[in-house]
Amino acid sequence: MGRQVSTEIVKTPLIWYKKASPLTAISLLSRTGLNQSNKHIMHSKKRILVTGGAGFLGSHLCGRLVAQGHDVICVDNFFTGSKENIAGLSDKNNFELMRHDVTFPLYVEVDEIYNLACPASPIHYQHDPVQTTKTSVHGAINMLGLAKRTGAKIFQASTSEVYGDPQVHPQTEDYWGHVNPIGQRSCYDEGKRCAETLFFDYHRQHQLRIKVARIFNTYGPNMHPNDGRVVSNFIMQALRNEPITIFGDGSQTRSFCYVDDLIDGIVMLMDTDDEVTGPINLGNPHEFTIRELAEKVIELTQSSSSLVLHPLPSDDPVQRQPNIGYAKSKLHWEPKIQLEEGLYKAIQYFKKML
Ligand SMILES: NC(=O)c1ccc[n+]([C@@H]2O[C@H](COP(=O)([O-])OP(=O)(O)OC[C@H]3O[C@@H](n4cnc5c(N)ncnc54)[C@H](O)[C@@H]3O)[C@@H](O)[C@H]2O)c1
Repeated sequence: MGRQVSTEIVKTPLIWYKKASPLTAISLLSRTGLNQSNKHIMHSKKRILVTGGAGFLGSHLCGRLVAQGHDVICVDNFFTGSKENIAGLSDKNNFELMRHDVTFPLYVEVDEIYNLACPASPIHYQHDPVQTTKTSVHGAINMLGLAKRTGAKIFQASTSEVYGDPQVHPQTEDYWGHVNPIGQRSCYDEGKRCAETLFFDYHRQHQLRIKVARIFNTYGPNMHPNDGRVVSNFIMQALRNEPITIFGDGSQTRSFCYVDDLIDGIVMLMDTDDEVTGPINLGNPHEFTIRELAEKVIELTQSSSSLVLHPLPSDDPVQRQPNIGYAKSKLHWEPKIQLEEGLYKAIQYFKKML
Protein backbone atom coordinates (compact mmCIF):
# COMPACT_ATOMS: atom_id res chain seq x y z
CA MET A 1 0.00 0.00 0.00
CA GLY A 2 2.76 2.45 0.98
CA ARG A 3 4.64 1.68 -2.24
CA GLN A 4 1.51 2.22 -4.37
CA VAL A 5 0.99 5.63 -2.83
CA SER A 6 4.53 6.80 -3.47
CA THR A 7 4.31 5.69 -7.13
CA GLU A 8 1.21 7.79 -7.54
CA ILE A 9 2.89 10.69 -5.78
CA VAL A 10 5.94 10.74 -7.98
CA LYS A 11 3.70 10.89 -11.03
CA THR A 12 1.41 13.67 -9.75
CA PRO A 13 3.12 15.38 -6.87
CA LEU A 14 1.08 18.58 -6.76
CA ILE A 15 -2.29 16.87 -6.96
CA TRP A 16 -1.25 14.51 -4.21
CA TYR A 17 -0.02 17.40 -2.10
CA LYS A 18 -3.45 18.99 -2.15
CA LYS A 19 -4.98 15.76 -0.89
CA ALA A 20 -2.22 14.80 1.46
CA SER A 21 -2.26 15.06 5.19
CA PRO A 22 0.63 16.95 6.80
CA LEU A 23 2.44 13.99 8.30
CA THR A 24 2.40 11.87 5.19
CA ALA A 25 3.18 14.92 3.09
CA ILE A 26 6.20 15.80 5.24
CA SER A 27 7.51 12.25 5.05
CA LEU A 28 6.90 12.37 1.29
CA LEU A 29 8.86 15.59 0.99
CA SER A 30 11.81 14.05 2.73
CA ARG A 31 11.55 10.83 0.67
CA THR A 32 11.20 12.47 -2.71
CA GLY A 33 13.34 15.56 -2.10
CA LEU A 34 10.62 17.74 -3.62
CA ASN A 35 11.01 21.49 -3.27
CA GLN A 36 10.41 22.43 0.37
CA SER A 37 8.81 25.70 -0.71
CA ASN A 38 5.81 23.66 -1.82
CA LYS A 39 5.03 23.22 1.87
CA HIS A 40 2.68 26.19 1.68
CA ILE A 41 0.20 23.89 -0.09
CA MET A 42 -0.01 21.80 3.05
CA HIS A 43 -2.57 22.66 5.66
CA SER A 44 -3.87 21.07 8.79
CA LYS A 45 -6.10 18.66 6.89
CA LYS A 46 -5.48 15.12 8.13
CA ARG A 47 -6.47 11.69 6.97
CA ILE A 48 -8.29 10.14 9.90
CA LEU A 49 -9.57 6.62 10.52
CA VAL A 50 -12.53 6.17 12.88
CA THR A 51 -13.28 2.56 13.79
CA GLY A 52 -16.83 1.97 14.97
CA GLY A 53 -17.64 5.14 13.05
CA ALA A 54 -21.24 4.12 12.30
CA GLY A 55 -22.07 3.68 15.98
CA PHE A 56 -23.46 6.20 18.43
CA LEU A 57 -20.25 8.02 19.42
CA GLY A 58 -18.40 7.20 16.20
CA SER A 59 -21.03 8.84 14.00
CA HIS A 60 -20.84 12.08 16.00
CA LEU A 61 -17.06 11.97 15.87
CA CYS A 62 -17.06 11.39 12.10
CA GLY A 63 -19.48 14.32 11.73
CA ARG A 64 -17.22 16.59 13.76
CA LEU A 65 -14.03 15.62 11.89
CA VAL A 66 -15.71 15.91 8.48
CA ALA A 67 -17.00 19.37 9.43
CA GLN A 68 -13.44 20.34 10.37
CA GLY A 69 -12.42 19.47 6.81
CA HIS A 70 -10.42 16.30 7.48
CA ASP A 71 -10.51 13.26 5.21
CA VAL A 72 -12.38 10.71 7.30
CA ILE A 73 -12.44 6.96 6.75
CA CYS A 74 -15.20 5.33 8.76
CA VAL A 75 -14.69 1.61 9.39
CA ASP A 76 -17.51 -0.48 10.80
CA ASN A 77 -18.89 -4.01 10.63
CA PHE A 78 -22.41 -2.71 11.46
CA PHE A 79 -22.86 -5.03 14.43
CA THR A 80 -24.51 -2.25 16.44
CA GLY A 81 -23.91 0.72 14.16
CA SER A 82 -26.04 1.70 11.20
CA LYS A 83 -25.80 3.47 7.87
CA GLU A 84 -28.58 5.82 9.03
CA ASN A 85 -26.24 7.22 11.69
CA ILE A 86 -23.86 8.43 9.01
CA ALA A 87 -26.39 9.06 6.24
CA GLY A 88 -25.81 12.81 6.53
CA LEU A 89 -22.14 12.32 5.67
CA SER A 90 -22.45 10.01 2.68
CA ASP A 91 -22.51 12.84 0.13
CA LYS A 92 -19.43 14.58 1.56
CA ASN A 93 -16.37 14.09 -0.58
CA ASN A 94 -14.11 14.01 2.50
CA PHE A 95 -16.00 11.03 3.97
CA GLU A 96 -15.47 7.38 3.09
CA LEU A 97 -17.24 4.33 4.50
CA MET A 98 -15.58 0.92 4.67
CA ARG A 99 -17.27 -2.26 5.91
CA HIS A 100 -14.59 -4.06 7.87
CA ASP A 101 -14.23 -6.05 11.08
CA VAL A 102 -11.36 -4.72 13.19
CA THR A 103 -10.49 -8.21 14.41
CA PHE A 104 -8.85 -8.54 10.98
CA PRO A 105 -5.85 -6.43 9.92
CA LEU A 106 -6.44 -3.27 7.93
CA TYR A 107 -4.01 -1.38 5.72
CA VAL A 108 -4.76 2.26 5.02
CA GLU A 109 -2.61 5.37 5.02
CA VAL A 110 -3.71 7.60 7.89
CA ASP A 111 -2.37 10.28 10.22
CA GLU A 112 -4.70 9.60 13.12
CA ILE A 113 -6.77 6.65 14.31
CA TYR A 114 -9.72 6.85 16.67
CA ASN A 115 -10.41 3.29 17.83
CA LEU A 116 -14.04 3.13 18.93
CA ALA A 117 -15.12 -0.22 17.49
CA CYS A 118 -16.75 -2.30 20.21
CA PRO A 119 -20.36 -2.84 21.21
CA ALA A 120 -20.94 -0.70 24.30
CA SER A 121 -24.27 -1.83 25.72
CA PRO A 122 -24.50 -4.96 27.91
CA ILE A 123 -27.13 -6.71 25.77
CA HIS A 124 -24.95 -6.30 22.71
CA TYR A 125 -21.56 -7.08 24.23
CA GLN A 126 -22.96 -10.11 26.07
CA HIS A 127 -24.63 -11.42 22.91
CA ASP A 128 -21.29 -12.85 21.67
CA PRO A 129 -18.83 -12.36 24.52
CA VAL A 130 -15.94 -14.07 22.73
CA GLN A 131 -16.32 -11.70 19.78
CA THR A 132 -16.49 -8.77 22.24
CA THR A 133 -13.13 -9.68 23.77
CA LYS A 134 -11.70 -10.28 20.30
CA THR A 135 -12.94 -6.87 19.15
CA SER A 136 -11.26 -5.12 22.06
CA VAL A 137 -8.04 -7.13 22.06
CA HIS A 138 -7.47 -8.16 18.42
CA GLY A 139 -8.96 -4.84 17.33
CA ALA A 140 -6.46 -2.98 19.51
CA ILE A 141 -3.57 -5.09 18.22
CA ASN A 142 -4.59 -4.49 14.60
CA MET A 143 -5.08 -0.75 15.03
CA LEU A 144 -1.87 -0.36 17.05
CA GLY A 145 -0.05 -2.30 14.33
CA LEU A 146 -1.47 0.08 11.76
CA ALA A 147 -0.41 3.07 13.88
CA LYS A 148 3.08 1.63 14.19
CA ARG A 149 3.35 1.11 10.44
CA THR A 150 1.99 4.52 9.44
CA GLY A 151 3.32 6.53 12.37
CA ALA A 152 -0.24 7.60 13.14
CA LYS A 153 -1.34 8.97 16.48
CA ILE A 154 -3.94 6.65 18.00
CA PHE A 155 -6.87 7.19 20.37
CA GLN A 156 -8.52 4.41 22.37
CA ALA A 157 -12.13 4.61 23.54
CA SER A 158 -11.70 2.97 26.92
CA THR A 159 -14.40 2.99 29.54
CA SER A 160 -15.30 3.64 33.14
CA GLU A 161 -16.00 -0.12 33.22
CA VAL A 162 -12.25 -0.64 33.73
CA TYR A 163 -12.97 0.49 37.31
CA GLY A 164 -15.52 -2.33 37.68
CA ASP A 165 -17.68 -1.94 40.78
CA PRO A 166 -15.45 0.77 42.25
CA GLN A 167 -14.48 0.95 45.90
CA VAL A 168 -13.16 4.47 45.39
CA HIS A 169 -15.56 7.27 44.73
CA PRO A 170 -15.45 9.34 42.57
CA GLN A 171 -13.00 7.45 40.38
CA THR A 172 -9.62 8.96 39.60
CA GLU A 173 -7.35 7.66 36.86
CA ASP A 174 -4.86 6.20 39.35
CA TYR A 175 -7.50 3.83 40.76
CA TRP A 176 -6.84 0.30 39.48
CA GLY A 177 -10.40 -0.88 39.70
CA HIS A 178 -12.44 -3.68 41.22
CA VAL A 179 -13.31 -5.99 38.37
CA ASN A 180 -14.67 -9.52 38.26
CA PRO A 181 -12.53 -11.33 35.65
CA ILE A 182 -14.99 -14.19 35.05
CA GLY A 183 -18.44 -12.60 35.16
CA GLN A 184 -20.91 -11.80 32.41
CA ARG A 185 -19.58 -8.27 32.00
CA SER A 186 -15.94 -9.38 31.97
CA CYS A 187 -15.74 -9.77 28.18
CA TYR A 188 -16.21 -6.01 27.96
CA ASP A 189 -14.44 -4.85 31.13
CA GLU A 190 -11.40 -7.10 30.80
CA GLY A 191 -11.25 -6.68 27.03
CA LYS A 192 -11.01 -2.93 27.51
CA ARG A 193 -8.45 -3.33 30.30
CA CYS A 194 -6.29 -5.53 28.08
CA ALA A 195 -6.63 -2.98 25.26
CA GLU A 196 -5.31 -0.29 27.62
CA THR A 197 -2.38 -2.57 28.49
CA LEU A 198 -1.61 -3.00 24.80
CA PHE A 199 -1.77 0.74 24.18
CA PHE A 200 0.71 1.48 26.95
CA ASP A 201 3.02 -1.38 25.94
CA TYR A 202 3.07 -0.15 22.32
CA HIS A 203 3.79 3.32 23.68
CA ARG A 204 6.68 2.12 25.88
CA GLN A 205 8.07 -0.47 23.49
CA HIS A 206 7.47 1.20 20.11
CA GLN A 207 7.12 4.88 21.09
CA LEU A 208 3.63 5.08 19.64
CA ARG A 209 1.77 8.32 20.27
CA ILE A 210 -1.27 7.15 22.22
CA LYS A 211 -4.30 8.84 23.75
CA VAL A 212 -6.49 6.77 26.07
CA ALA A 213 -9.82 8.12 27.32
CA ARG A 214 -11.96 6.39 29.93
CA ILE A 215 -15.44 7.33 28.82
CA PHE A 216 -18.29 7.43 31.33
CA ASN A 217 -22.00 7.06 30.47
CA THR A 218 -22.79 9.19 27.47
CA TYR A 219 -26.13 9.71 25.78
CA GLY A 220 -27.70 11.56 22.88
CA PRO A 221 -29.03 11.17 19.34
CA ASN A 222 -27.90 8.11 17.32
CA MET A 223 -28.01 5.81 20.32
CA HIS A 224 -29.54 2.48 19.43
CA PRO A 225 -33.16 2.72 20.65
CA ASN A 226 -33.28 -0.90 21.86
CA ASP A 227 -29.83 -1.47 23.25
CA GLY A 228 -30.91 -1.52 26.86
CA ARG A 229 -28.80 1.44 27.95
CA VAL A 230 -30.50 3.31 30.72
CA VAL A 231 -31.12 6.66 29.02
CA SER A 232 -32.42 5.23 25.74
CA ASN A 233 -34.48 2.63 27.63
CA PHE A 234 -36.15 5.16 29.85
CA ILE A 235 -36.89 7.58 27.02
CA MET A 236 -38.37 4.90 24.74
CA GLN A 237 -40.48 3.47 27.57
CA ALA A 238 -41.70 6.94 28.55
CA LEU A 239 -42.54 7.91 24.97
CA ARG A 240 -44.60 4.72 24.64
CA ASN A 241 -46.22 5.34 28.06
CA GLU A 242 -44.95 1.90 29.12
CA PRO A 243 -43.74 1.15 32.67
CA ILE A 244 -40.15 2.35 33.20
CA THR A 245 -37.93 -0.54 34.25
CA ILE A 246 -35.58 0.22 37.12
CA PHE A 247 -33.06 -2.45 38.13
CA GLY A 248 -32.57 -2.49 41.90
CA ASP A 249 -34.30 0.15 43.99
CA GLY A 250 -33.12 3.02 41.78
CA SER A 251 -30.80 4.43 44.43
CA GLN A 252 -27.68 3.48 42.45
CA THR A 253 -26.10 6.53 40.88
CA ARG A 254 -24.75 7.33 37.44
CA SER A 255 -23.41 10.43 35.78
CA PHE A 256 -24.54 11.19 32.25
CA CYS A 257 -22.59 13.17 29.68
CA TYR A 258 -24.21 14.63 26.60
CA VAL A 259 -22.54 13.42 23.42
CA ASP A 260 -21.44 16.86 22.11
CA ASP A 261 -19.50 17.49 25.32
CA LEU A 262 -17.83 14.10 25.07
CA ILE A 263 -16.81 14.59 21.44
CA ASP A 264 -15.24 17.95 22.42
CA GLY A 265 -13.18 16.11 25.04
CA ILE A 266 -12.10 13.32 22.66
CA VAL A 267 -10.95 15.74 19.94
CA MET A 268 -9.19 17.95 22.48
CA LEU A 269 -7.35 14.93 23.89
CA MET A 270 -6.19 13.90 20.41
CA ASP A 271 -4.82 17.41 19.89
CA THR A 272 -2.67 17.43 23.04
CA ASP A 273 1.12 17.22 23.03
CA ASP A 274 2.62 13.78 22.64
CA GLU A 275 3.50 13.43 26.32
CA VAL A 276 -0.21 13.45 27.20
CA THR A 277 -1.18 9.80 26.87
CA GLY A 278 -3.97 9.46 29.39
CA PRO A 279 -5.70 7.47 30.68
CA ILE A 280 -7.99 10.38 31.20
CA ASN A 281 -11.55 10.31 32.48
CA LEU A 282 -14.13 11.92 30.20
CA GLY A 283 -17.63 12.19 31.56
CA ASN A 284 -20.02 14.38 33.45
CA PRO A 285 -19.33 14.36 37.19
CA HIS A 286 -22.84 15.50 38.04
CA GLU A 287 -24.36 12.47 39.73
CA PHE A 288 -28.01 11.37 39.65
CA THR A 289 -29.79 8.35 41.02
CA ILE A 290 -31.42 6.12 38.44
CA ARG A 291 -34.77 6.97 40.01
CA GLU A 292 -34.11 10.71 39.54
CA LEU A 293 -33.25 10.09 35.91
CA ALA A 294 -36.49 8.16 35.37
CA GLU A 295 -38.54 10.90 36.99
CA LYS A 296 -36.85 13.60 34.88
CA VAL A 297 -37.55 11.63 31.69
CA ILE A 298 -41.21 11.20 32.65
CA GLU A 299 -41.48 14.94 33.31
CA LEU A 300 -39.83 15.97 30.02
CA THR A 301 -41.84 13.53 27.90
CA GLN A 302 -45.06 14.28 29.81
CA SER A 303 -45.49 10.54 30.02
CA SER A 304 -48.00 8.55 32.06
CA SER A 305 -45.41 5.79 32.68
CA SER A 306 -45.05 4.28 36.13
CA LEU A 307 -41.80 2.97 37.69
CA VAL A 308 -41.34 -0.81 37.99
CA LEU A 309 -38.50 -2.34 40.04
CA HIS A 310 -36.58 -5.43 38.85
CA PRO A 311 -33.68 -7.32 40.50
CA LEU A 312 -30.20 -5.88 39.84
CA PRO A 313 -28.17 -7.76 37.20
CA SER A 314 -24.91 -9.31 38.40
CA ASP A 315 -21.85 -7.04 38.81
CA ASP A 316 -23.92 -3.91 38.21
CA PRO A 317 -21.90 -1.09 39.82
CA VAL A 318 -23.61 0.76 42.67
CA GLN A 319 -21.96 4.11 42.06
CA ARG A 320 -20.15 5.54 39.08
CA GLN A 321 -18.86 9.08 38.93
CA PRO A 322 -15.79 10.43 37.19
CA ASN A 323 -13.28 12.68 38.83
CA ILE A 324 -12.44 14.94 35.87
CA GLY A 325 -9.76 17.02 37.59
CA TYR A 326 -7.12 15.69 35.21
CA ALA A 327 -9.22 16.47 32.10
CA LYS A 328 -9.86 19.96 33.45
CA SER A 329 -6.19 20.67 34.03
CA LYS A 330 -4.77 18.98 30.91
CA LEU A 331 -7.49 19.71 28.36
CA HIS A 332 -9.26 22.65 29.97
CA TRP A 333 -12.36 20.58 29.30
CA GLU A 334 -15.51 20.05 31.26
CA PRO A 335 -19.07 19.23 30.18
CA LYS A 336 -21.30 22.22 29.52
CA ILE A 337 -24.66 20.66 28.70
CA GLN A 338 -26.99 20.11 31.65
CA LEU A 339 -28.97 16.87 31.95
CA GLU A 340 -32.31 18.52 31.20
CA GLU A 341 -31.05 20.18 28.01
CA GLY A 342 -29.35 17.00 26.81
CA LEU A 343 -32.35 14.82 27.61
CA TYR A 344 -34.57 17.20 25.69
CA LYS A 345 -32.39 16.84 22.57
CA ALA A 346 -32.24 13.06 22.96
CA ILE A 347 -36.02 12.87 23.38
CA GLN A 348 -36.53 14.77 20.11
CA TYR A 349 -34.35 12.17 18.37
CA PHE A 350 -36.07 9.16 19.92
CA LYS A 351 -39.52 10.53 19.06
CA LYS A 352 -38.60 9.98 15.40
CA MET A 353 -37.83 6.31 16.16
CA LEU A 354 -41.36 5.50 17.35
N1 LIG B 1 -21.51 5.41 24.90
C1 LIG B 1 -20.96 5.29 26.08
O1 LIG B 1 -21.57 5.70 27.08
C2 LIG B 1 -19.59 4.69 26.23
C3 LIG B 1 -19.02 4.63 27.51
C4 LIG B 1 -17.76 4.10 27.64
C5 LIG B 1 -17.05 3.66 26.56
N2 LIG B 1 -17.60 3.72 25.32
C6 LIG B 1 -16.83 3.20 24.20
O2 LIG B 1 -16.96 4.02 23.08
C7 LIG B 1 -16.99 3.23 21.89
C8 LIG B 1 -18.23 3.56 21.09
O3 LIG B 1 -19.36 3.30 21.89
P1 LIG B 1 -20.84 3.58 21.36
O4 LIG B 1 -21.65 3.98 22.52
O5 LIG B 1 -20.78 4.44 20.17
O6 LIG B 1 -21.28 2.10 20.97
P2 LIG B 1 -21.98 1.57 19.64
O7 LIG B 1 -22.33 0.14 19.89
O8 LIG B 1 -23.08 2.49 19.23
O9 LIG B 1 -20.83 1.70 18.58
C9 LIG B 1 -19.82 0.74 18.41
C10 LIG B 1 -19.57 0.62 16.92
O10 LIG B 1 -18.53 -0.35 16.72
C11 LIG B 1 -18.94 -1.22 15.66
N3 LIG B 1 -18.25 -2.50 15.85
C12 LIG B 1 -18.45 -3.41 16.82
N4 LIG B 1 -17.61 -4.44 16.66
C13 LIG B 1 -16.86 -4.17 15.56
C14 LIG B 1 -15.84 -4.87 14.88
N5 LIG B 1 -15.38 -6.06 15.30
N6 LIG B 1 -15.31 -4.29 13.76
C15 LIG B 1 -15.75 -3.09 13.32
N7 LIG B 1 -16.73 -2.41 13.93
C16 LIG B 1 -17.27 -2.93 15.03
C17 LIG B 1 -20.43 -1.31 15.79
O11 LIG B 1 -21.09 -1.76 14.62
C18 LIG B 1 -20.78 0.13 16.15
O12 LIG B 1 -20.96 0.91 14.99
C19 LIG B 1 -16.93 1.78 22.33
O13 LIG B 1 -15.61 1.32 22.21
C20 LIG B 1 -17.34 1.83 23.78
O14 LIG B 1 -16.76 0.79 24.52
C21 LIG B 1 -18.87 4.22 25.13
